[in-house]
Amino acid sequence: ARDGSYNSDVPTSLEAVAAGVQLCRRCDLWRDATQGVPGQGAANARLMFVGEQPGDQEDLAGLPFIGPAGQVFDEALSEAGVPRDRTYVTNAVKHFKHEPRGKRRIHKTPGGGEVQACRWWLDHERRLVRPRVIVALGATAANAVMGKATPIGVNRGKALQLPDQTRAVLTYHPSFLLRLPDPDARARARAEFIEDLRLAGELAG
Ligand code: URA
Repeated sequence: ARDGSYNSDVPTSLEAVAAGVQLCRRCDLWRDATQGVPGQGAANARLMFVGEQPGDQEDLAGLPFIGPAGQVFDEALSEAGVPRDRTYVTNAVKHFKHEPRGKRRIHKTPGGGEVQACRWWLDHERRLVRPRVIVALGATAANAVMGKATPIGVNRGKALQLPDQTRAVLTYHPSFLLRLPDPDARARARAEFIEDLRLAGELAG
């Protein structure tokens, strides 16, 4: 559909995914978003990261994980020895879901229907990039990557096998680390997060 009212053309490149995301009407989140935010990174990456959805800054810039969560993510990647530019970074949902609070736009967790609708794009990104390892950052990403609700707490720290031979690593969302009020708990979770990124880097080779 060239008018974008319902874009069901199968994308044959990441550029086509990026263009398709801009025209996407598979759910209603495009209405209040500045733009769609497709994945970014190496087209042949062995390691793919999946977050939840763009935040305020990502929505404005059109790039994933560049705001506060992105800063936590970048620092952890660097400590884990994983160069971000050799990976592919995307989100389960490509438009920013939010509600106004004064002048600010407050993040709202996307619902199951939105995650399901947006799997069209995530699944095409997976097919085109063909990573060896997919890291799900947080519960929304874990749901999108595993195809069913999969808790992080009991599944993090290990390599899971996906039906297509890809491996999955489930770990915390960087924003979860930012929100932990207790400094000791935060330091512990951050260390586990870095361990998980290091494991994923090793699995990807
Ligand atoms: N949080 C996410 O899950 N993804 C982003 O791109 C930014 C913040």
